[in-house]
Amino acid sequence: MGCSDTDYAYLREIVLSQSANLIDPSRNALFDMRLTPIARLAGASNLQGLVDLLKTDQPAHLRRAVAEAMTINETSFFRDVRPFEALRKTILPRLIAEHAGDRTLRIWCAACSTGQEAYSIGMLILEEFPELADWDVRIVGTDISRQVLEVAQKGWYRRAEVARGLSTRLLAEYFERHGEEWEISPRVKTMCEFFFANLCAPLPKLPVFDVVLLRNVLLYFPEQDRSCVLSDVYRQMRSSGYLMLGNAEQAEDSTNLFEMEFAQETYFYRPVEGG
Ligand SMILES: C[S@@+](CC[C@H](N)C(=O)[O-])C[C@H]1O[C@@H](n2cnc3c(N)ncnc32)[C@H](O)[C@@H]1O
Repeated sequence: MGCSDTDYAYLREIVLSQSANLIDPSRNALFDMRLTPIARLAGASNLQGLVDLLKTDQPAHLRRAVAEAMTINETSFFRDVRPFEALRKTILPRLIAEHAGDRTLRIWCAACSTGQEAYSIGMLILEEFPELADWDVRIVGTDISRQVLEVAQKGWYRRAEVARGLSTRLLAEYFERHGEEWEISPRVKTMCEFFFANLCAPLPKLPVFDVVLLRNVLLYFPEQDRSCVLSDVYRQMRSSGYLMLGNAEQAEDSTNLFEMEFAQETYFYRPVEGG
């Protein structure tokens, strides 16, 4: 079982170089848990065998698989509540007024995990802003982990997942039950699309966004990568746009590209002109 401290350090280095995620040495057991299935798939009998394979010819697909498997994918519907209140009461009303002419809205969940964040915004829009029914609204979710993207694309959730953050009414209104799983309704699903993007590599072609949710991901990155990601996100936003970070990430912006605004007991960020 397991591998030597030097080999854990080698695995940490792979994760850092592939995804910018910093993994604390106290979490070595997580490598055992997450990488043993990958070792088996790669034909190795245990973690040590996987390390040996990685060291032999550095296969790119295996290095990527290691990084993806080590991501922390914790998420839930309407996570932290307040950002969704800020969207409901402040941000979306302002954007709707601004875009009355072109009737478009572009929202990016930039580390979307299994899709709950994107679908929460979809439900919020359907619930609170019926006037957007004939607008061109796109909610784009991206993530580095193909495994979570598959779940997001499928839009099926287990009991424990729908029990987190959804009222019984929202569950009944926007999900269809299939035994022990609930499927997000086509009304919400068609508003959302999901695809692969590594925030620490050149981004794929994306629209320019009015709202970016970059929540609970920067905290895993070293300072230098946080700044790079924030600069890329800045370039991907309209000058009148809004950036939302996670609760534990409110002080993560040292780029001077954004200024903070406070509403509904939460902070969000506005791009600074000419940054
Ligand atoms: C803790 S989840 C946060 C999900 C959601 N934003 C939320 O706040 O509930 C972090 C997500 O970031 C993704 N992630 C980690 N590193 C990434 C990277 N370099 N590029 C894109 N996504 C990344 C992980 O795969 C994971 O799904």
